[in-house]
Amino acid sequence: MKLGRTGAKVSNICIGTDNYGNEFGCDEKTAHSILDRALDYGINFVDTADSYSDGNSETIIGNYFKKNGRRDDVVLATKFRSRVGAGVNDLGASRYHIVRAVEASLRRLQTDRIDLYYCHSWDDETSVEETLRALDDLVRQGKIVYAGCSNFPAWLMTKALWVADVRNTYRFEAVQSVFNILQPGLGMEVIPQAQAHNVAVMPYSPLASGMLTGKHPRSGPVQDSKFGARDDARGGSLKNRYWNDQKLDTVDRLKQVADKYGQPLIRLALQWVSDFPGVTAPIFGSRRLDQIDGIIHAHSESAPAEAMAEVMSIAEEFAASTPMVYPPQSGGAFGREIKQRA
Ligand SMILES: NC(=O)c1ccc[n+]([C@@H]2O[C@H](COP(=O)([O-])OP(=O)(O)OC[C@H]3O[C@@H](n4cnc5c(N)ncnc54)[C@H](OP(=O)(O)O)[C@@H]3O)[C@@H](O)[C@H]2O)c1
Repeated sequence: MKLGRTGAKVSNICIGTDNYGNEFGCDEKTAHSILDRALDYGINFVDTADSYSDGNSETIIGNYFKKNGRRDDVVLATKFRSRVGAGVNDLGASRYHIVRAVEASLRRLQTDRIDLYYCHSWDDETSVEETLRALDDLVRQGKIVYAGCSNFPAWLMTKALWVADVRNTYRFEAVQSVFNILQPGLGMEVIPQAQAHNVAVMPYSPLASGMLTGKHPRSGPVQDSKFGARDDARGGSLKNRYWNDQKLDTVDRLKQVADKYGQPLIRLALQWVSDFPGVTAPIFGSRRLDQIDGIIHAHSESAPAEAMAEVMSIAEEFAASTPMVYPPQSGGAFGREIKQRA
């Protein structure tokens, strides 16, 4: 796939790494084996962030490419903006934060350039022009190749594209935000708008962080999962987002379609996202080898058209009966920071 209007090519799925290097995810050895499987399969698109596992995700990826020399085989994306320290400027989208954040990411990733550098979420205390001018400088310095935004509402993405246009800066060439059958709000405005402006769209959590694998029993989430202790430690933001009767009913109906056509539910969920007009590459997660194998198996074939027609009808019914909240209001990376008085 083309990365939006740029000439760079990315695989039509991207591997996410937020679970590398933390107690709920996987260790470095497993992460490297997962990356081996992904790259050997043909995935050339890797997504991380400076805040993932307090920087461990970037460090693990840096060590991986140092060891095998495959750095130039991939388009490597990372992000700034989330909190990475205790100081008042250890977060945000200010020039002050960005110039330090990029150096820290380059150091951990052991590379001389970041191929796609996302603003992880919007910062309502910094003008988008300040952010764009800082990113423009980084492109000119060769420290980043392209810039993108993440979790931006449509109005702000429009504003950012407009400011880049009238101020003649490099613009956001990609947007990354949550999008799956159970969280379809991105499809209302952000994706059509990105498509109209040829901005690449990278939906994250295509499997609804595991809900759309069908592995969670109705009575409660599997404990050894993103919905278990990890979510408890983060205030239950995933459970708040996905764990309700309407969503569980929808998963049950999708499971029936998967069984009827002898398809893995993961394939149906991933394909629903990939097939959505305007989508470039969904960003999936895996923390074990059997999980990446399951993803590769799901991705390696297409589901029959009849099965996808049933999936689309269930997804449309769900979307029609739920408030299309975007960005999700469940806190975590999306929620507003409680403002600190300096
Ligand atoms: N920009 C942002 O704010 C933002 C936010 C979130 C994520 N992201 C990016 O998107 C990536 C993916 O997010 P995500 O993890 O929510 O994506 P996802 O693909 O929807 O969910 C991944 C989870 O599904 C389960 N899973 C995957 N393969 C499986 C298999 N074969 N069998 C059974 N279960 C399987 C695992 O859950 P368990 O771990 O429970 O076993 C895995 O952690 C992240 O790593 C990150 O790079 C970005």
